[in-house]
Amino acid sequence: MDNVREIKKLRKEKDAIILAHYYQIPEIQDIADYVGDSLGLAQKAENTNAKLIIFAGVHFMAETAKIINPNIKVLLPDLEAGCSLAESCPPEKFKKFKEQYPDHLVISYINCTAAIKTMSDIICTSGNAVKIVESLPKNQKIIFAPDKNLGGYINNITGRKMVLWNGFCEVHDILSIEAIIKLKIKNPDAKLVAHPECKGQVLELADFIGSTNSMLNFTKTDKSEKYIIATESGILHQMQKNSPKKEFIIVPTDETCSCNDCPYMKLNTLEKLYLCLKNEEPEIKLSNEIIKQAKLPIFKMLNISKKLNIIK
Ligand code: 13P
Ligand code: SF4
Repeated sequence: MDNVREIKKLRKEKDAIILAHYYQIPEIQDIADYVGDSLGLAQKAENTNAKLIIFAGVHFMAETAKIINPNIKVLLPDLEAGCSLAESCPPEKFKKFKEQYPDHLVISYINCTAAIKTMSDIICTSGNAVKIVESLPKNQKIIFAPDKNLGGYINNITGRKMVLWNGFCEVHDILSIEAIIKLKIKNPDAKLVAHPECKGQVLELADFIGSTNSMLNFTKTDKSEKYIIATESGILHQMQKNSPKKEFIIVPTDETCSCNDCPYMKLNTLEKLYLCLKNEEPEIKLSNEIIKQAKLPIFKMLNISKKLNIIK
């Protein structure tokens, strides 16, 4: 059976929209109605009139789409597609942590569970994190969760002293600094482009730091011919499509591995996407109470982004 043909047919029949993250396999990116970073995907989920959202990404992304647009059925091709960063911040532990800082506001990176979102004042993504933090008064005390690397990066460039939750992404945090230095020595003409979930030592060496979408835009418009890419390998698909004459080298996790796949993102396949569209499951289900509480910090983020014109 031709999965691509069947997906296209069912999508039309069911008035569905397929939203895909840049870390999805190329075949999924190519069939999606929209491919983007976490912010772009949340903005698309807000503005769609479709009857069904098929979210080709991970659980927290599909959950966010459901919170933003609760009247639409949101499907995730594989419910096991979680996120190590979201898992690194268990709600019970975070509740106790937050109680130690009663005069702090909580800014949470979108890579967290709906339960953490209900305990947050504003959500941010890597595409708007610095601007969201800077939208608050300089003397505002802030807890930043769950990514210590992104939080540390924001502290560095804004001069703030946000209290950081000690979480990280297993894919970005293990990118090897030794491998990067070796690649830089071997390719002195290449620019290092890094996602802010990477360790501080990697970010210090980077020529450009940004969300997946910003990294893509940078490699599109920048004049260099060669880039060392410090993020998940899925992004290479769009980079190569947009700049076929440029060379992209993905940072290996160690000497024996030349690729860098998020095991959760890569659980989605074309066959699972087809089955999910056909059977209209697995569906993201959340209680009305969680939706009511979690939508407040998410809409704060969406509204600040609109005001600051951060539209993907
Ligand atoms: P973006 O905000 O760049 O989409 O990153 C999401 C993510 O999960 C990175 O690991
Ligand atoms: Fe989560 Fe990291 Fe995978 Fe992104 S790359 S979805 S942060 S585990």
